[in-house]
Amino acid sequence: MADNNKPIPLFSHEKIETNNFLMIVLILLVVAVGGLVEIVPLFFQKSTTEAVTGLKPYTPLQLVGRDIYLREGCYNCHSQMIRPFRAETLRYGHYSVAGEFVYDHPFQWGSKRTGPDLHRVGGKYSDEWHRIHLNNPRDVVPESNMPAYAWLEKAMVDPAVVAPRMKALRSVGVPYTDAEIAGGAEAVQGKTEQDALIAYLQVLGRALTDQLALQAAPTAAAPAPAAPASAP
Ligand code: HEC
Repeated sequence: MADNNKPIPLFSHEKIETNNFLMIVLILLVVAVGGLVEIVPLFFQKSTTEAVTGLKPYTPLQLVGRDIYLREGCYNCHSQMIRPFRAETLRYGHYSVAGEFVYDHPFQWGSKRTGPDLHRVGGKYSDEWHRIHLNNPRDVVPESNMPAYAWLEKAMVDPAVVAPRMKALRSVGVPYTDAEIAGGAEAVQGKTEQDALIAYLQVLGRALTDQLALQAAPTAAAPAPAAPASAP
């Protein structure tokens, strides 16, 4: 065909499509710019960087429990991220928001749900339920295929690990005070790893839901409806 012999104009798309190297460079450029525009603003947006009202850094015991959660690989079967879909919120409660995770380094959103999501498990069961469940899940959920973690009941927490851990977290922005760090070891003295893990599970997702419950409940401070000034 005669068209094939036509010279390619200087600014033709054909130039890109027929040149692998140019194509790769331009694709990388487009992805890089697109990524920067989408991702960088999130580092500065209040809704993703500020803690939700009522969120507190983990106590020393909860913090140790969180490390045990990581060590035991609970995240391999449990997510901590409720998506904003009806099927999820009906089952687990309010969807997760970014401000709930600002003290989590690293966050435990997870990507696999062999077991249920745990982001709102705090307060769902008693400590005693967790104790039985961790020792042998089949004792409370007969069809469960979750492994038993019975040794956690006997393993003691090493108080020496707490202060360095809190200091490390402070260096990435978790607002622990010197006094809190100094008292860290004492706070976990005599506790088992199971106590710590349960303390962690019981605080999961509570900051936001406690706050919502507060807003929904009529406050004690609210003035009673005014009585009529004078009887008719
Ligand atoms: C092999 C996958 C697996 C691993 C690993 C695992 N779980 Fe589970 N987990 C499950 C399954 C399945 C269930 C649902 C049945 C049940 O309640 O036992 C469950 C349920 C739970 C529940 C109850 C959730 C609810 O809303 O009823 C808690 C709490 C829990 N797991 C905590 C943990 C902790 C803590 C660890 C790590 C020490 C862990 N799981 C490790 C599979 C797993």
